[in-house]
Amino acid sequence: MMGSRVQVFLLVISIQILLVAAQTNEDFAVLKSLKDVWDNTPRNWEGSDPCGNGWVGIQCTNSRVTAITLGSIGLTGNLSGDLQLLSELQILDLSYNKGLTGPLPASIGSLKKLTNLILVGCGFSGPIPSAIGSLPRLLILSLTSNSFTGPIPPEIGHLSNLFWLDLADNMLSGRLPVSDGTTPGLDMLVNMKHFHFGKNQLAGTIPPKLFSPNMSLIHVLFEDNNFSGSIPSTLGLVQSLEVLRLDRNLLTGPVPSNLNNLVHVSELYLSNNQLSGSLPNLTGMNVLNYVDMSNNTFDESEIPLWFSTLQPLTTLKMENTQLKGQVPVSLFSLPLLQTVVLRNNQLNGTLDVGSSHSDQLQLIDFQNNFIVDYDEGGGFKNKLILAGNPICRETGQTKTYCDIQQSNSTSYSTPQKNCVPSGCRINQISSPNCVCAYPYTGNLSFRAPSFSDLGNSSIYTSLEESLMNSFRLHQLPVDAVSLSNPTKNADDYLVLRLESFPSGEDRFNRTGISAVAFVLSNQTFKPPHNFGPFVFNANSYGYFAESTGHHKSSNTGIIIGAAAGGSVLLLLALLVGIYAFRQKRRAEIADKQNNPFAAWDPRKDSGDVPQLKGARSFSFEELKKCTNSFSEANVIGSGGYGQVYKGVLHSGRLVAVKRAQRGSMQGGLEFKTEIELLSRVHHKNVVSLVGFCFEHDEQMLVYEYIPNGSLKESLSGKSGIRLDWTRRLRIAIGAARGLQYLHELANPPIIHRDIKTNNILLDERLTAKVADFGLSKLMGDPEKGHVTTQVKGTMGYMDPEYYMTQQLTEKSDVYSFGVVMLELITARQPIEKGKYIVREVKQYMDKTKLLYNLQEILDPSILVTPLKGLEKFVDLALSCVEDAGAERPKMGDVVKEIENIMQIAGLNPNADSASTSSSYEAVSKGYDHPYSDESLFVYSGTFPPSKIEPQ
Ligand SMILES: *[C@@H]1O[C@H](CO)[C@@H](O)[C@H](O)[C@H]1NC(C)=O
Ligand SMILES: *[C@@H]1O[C@H](CO)[C@@H](O)[C@H](O)[C@H]1NC(C)=O
Ligand SMILES: *[C@@H]1O[C@H](CO)[C@@H](O)[C@H](O)[C@H]1NC(C)=O
Ligand SMILES: *[C@@H]1O[C@H](CO)[C@@H](O)[C@H](O)[C@H]1NC(C)=O
Ligand SMILES: *[C@@H]1O[C@H](CO)[C@@H](O)[C@H](O)[C@H]1NC(C)=O
Repeated sequence: MMGSRVQVFLLVISIQILLVAAQTNEDFAVLKSLKDVWDNTPRNWEGSDPCGNGWVGIQCTNSRVTAITLGSIGLTGNLSGDLQLLSELQILDLSYNKGLTGPLPASIGSLKKLTNLILVGCGFSGPIPSAIGSLPRLLILSLTSNSFTGPIPPEIGHLSNLFWLDLADNMLSGRLPVSDGTTPGLDMLVNMKHFHFGKNQLAGTIPPKLFSPNMSLIHVLFEDNNFSGSIPSTLGLVQSLEVLRLDRNLLTGPVPSNLNNLVHVSELYLSNNQLSGSLPNLTGMNVLNYVDMSNNTFDESEIPLWFSTLQPLTTLKMENTQLKGQVPVSLFSLPLLQTVVLRNNQLNGTLDVGSSHSDQLQLIDFQNNFIVDYDEGGGFKNKLILAGNPICRETGQTKTYCDIQQSNSTSYSTPQKNCVPSGCRINQISSPNCVCAYPYTGNLSFRAPSFSDLGNSSIYTSLEESLMNSFRLHQLPVDAVSLSNPTKNADDYLVLRLESFPSGEDRFNRTGISAVAFVLSNQTFKPPHNFGPFVFNANSYGYFAESTGHHKSSNTGIIIGAAAGGSVLLLLALLVGIYAFRQKRRAEIADKQNNPFAAWDPRKDSGDVPQLKGARSFSFEELKKCTNSFSEANVIGSGGYGQVYKGVLHSGRLVAVKRAQRGSMQGGLEFKTEIELLSRVHHKNVVSLVGFCFEHDEQMLVYEYIPNGSLKESLSGKSGIRLDWTRRLRIAIGAARGLQYLHELANPPIIHRDIKTNNILLDERLTAKVADFGLSKLMGDPEKGHVTTQVKGTMGYMDPEYYMTQQLTEKSDVYSFGVVMLELITARQPIEKGKYIVREVKQYMDKTKLLYNLQEILDPSILVTPLKGLEKFVDLALSCVEDAGAERPKMGDVVKEIENIMQIAGLNPNADSASTSSSYEAVSKGYDHPYSDESLFVYSGTFPPSKIEPQ
């Protein structure tokens, strides 16, 4: 009896083991079939255990193949139909193998677990199979730069998790599919963020049904196709949009008047269509950086004055758009303006650039207009072109602005870093560190940068840094990167040559190349924000040291063969196997308990156990329970990264749980770095991290719950809390102290980067707490005192010096804090109806008068009590928003001065704020919780992890 039970048990176990073995073997068989049809497979693809033997480009979980990343290794052949048998495959990246040709087989639709399908820059052709619509888990589909033909399959509409769809640079034709009750369509993709369809032959009208208010699109790139008909007005409903390119199509009719609802759009391209009607009114699009509406047939009009209200504008191109009349001088005073191209219009009168034009203004091109005179009093020194205007037709005209100057191609090349390059062997190149090596090269194309001045080398420096940071973060064997040859191509993409140099050896091996390729093809690398969406196209790499192994393998299925024999020996082997398996499981479980990061990380790059101070690791179950299974009713905020839930811990403590949705997650190491940073911050005026969860493909941050919402809500009256002058002073001192702590006392010091009233929370005693370090940046080298970084932050609060130089210092936070102080007294948003609060206050201000004559713009609700110390408060705020960082006070000085002002107002700066919020007016419900700021999970502050170790 007993014996037979043991036998049955053993039999069950052994069958299970055999099943695992058989499946692994099946995966092996598939890879072997690929090896047979492909040339140039990695040499170590030998033996019969791809997982155990660590085949290059293959990653496994529990002995099943879960990822194939073989970018840029020179594979040739086509996609064998056997691929569909890899039933656990999640990631397939074969990018940059131009020799991979032929169709994409329909059987790819069987890879039910696939999340990332990335075939950038290969030679695939034929139609995109509709079976691609049966990959329910797909998040990223990138087929850029192949030769696909035919229509976009409507079945893609079934991919409800998809957020990245890049089909650009193919030969796709036909209409954009939308659903009609019986067939699916792209309109169903409400989680989609990126429609990148540029450089195809797509045609027909852009269907109005494609866009709806519940979409979360940020990039719509339809440039360089054959779309016709008019722009649908439904586009104006997609409030999340940040980049819109409809240029280089055949669009007609008027631009829908609700286009200016798209207040988050920073790059707008409508050029080279046949758009008509009146010039689109872009009033209110207050974050626009780049506008190109050239070559359309709009009604004749003068240059509208609202252009001068688009404060962040860097680039205005309105060539050949029937503009007439005098050019308003205010146009040139936009602070960030770099380029104005208004060629081929009917502008007349005298051109006056004014003396308040920005130093950044590099090019004014007014060729072929009717300008009769130029006022040189403005002292404009950079390139001006007036050829083809009456002013240049006078005989004997010798002004340089009358030459048609060839556009002077900008040259940039990453400089050598204080070293002398030595002679390199043929084909080797000297890296910026003066090491001779064979770099991995290719072109980075940015499809909508926010700038047009390509001559400013600091933008390339910031890109180099962010590339290197990303490579380091993913522990890639890259020693240095070099950028060169910035150019604008025919589609107005900024194209840069990228060379990545190997570390250690003089060349990459296949593992190194495909890992670097993946970080670029998978969009793991996030360039600085001003560069916008990008694509990398690699050149093939011909310098691998090892030759390839393309030998037929012979040892098929030893395990299956042996199993068929069923001998005593096998049983013994099984017993040993079971034991080893159990031990391994046990070790894994123990490991998991000690280190939550060991549990889940596809690339095992999460490093050591995180150094956490006070924050704890929560299990998924625990957080699920405390948020009532993440119920809708508990949602207190949401954003592109996912949602924030209110939760109650076992202990009764209230928390805010910020849960990243798929697609917003960061790498394990980034996540770890972030929570290490957050957990180290402890101050009364700073929101603290309670813990985190990192398992089951989940990333969550657990914060203390701050009941009274954000300062912004209180100022706007939304929260129902009335803030009088003394409460505002207390909030100011609290926030200032929080910030001083981050700058001066946190170890390492932290620059917040996104100080604004949304990020200052108020607890039940109205104590101010600084929140959301999503954009925070550690101070790099304290000697240097700044870090060069991609520009992030919020328009209106952003330090102009940081914006221009990309050099972030603590003084950038001081600037933002100055804006917050002005908001505190005026209750106006920093940019409201096109007016900038700093300028407004300065305009109204008259120091000889009571309250500096500011009554008109002060928040009426503070005017009811005497405003003791207000003038000093204004002085302090304005010193914080000085143009030059060096002239702004440090946060420590700001704290001292507010303490001083509080004493003038008869307050004790060290007393606690208030008794409890129940003495305040009721808190209204349903406001967006401030944790909902998107930034936390799009955190891109990547830096070498070693820098955040204590000391
Ligand atoms: C543009 O739109 C704004 C607000 O939508 C409106 O106030 C303004 O009058 C319009 N300007 C023109 C020239 O139509
Ligand atoms: C406008 O059209 C002309 C002629 O086709 C072309 O040369 C020019 O580059 C176009 N301008 C822009 C800004 O696209
Ligand atoms: C400039 O053009 C406008 C509109 O076409 C016209 O009304 C005006 O008289 C012109 N001014 C001069 C000085 O020619
Ligand atoms: C660029 O233009 C300047 C004058 O505007 C000239 O001195 C210089 O040689 C030009 N550079 C190139 C590379 O053509
Ligand atoms: C490839 O290179 C990396 C580092 O450059 C090295 O760690 C790894 O062992 C190499 N792999 C092979 C298969 O040679």
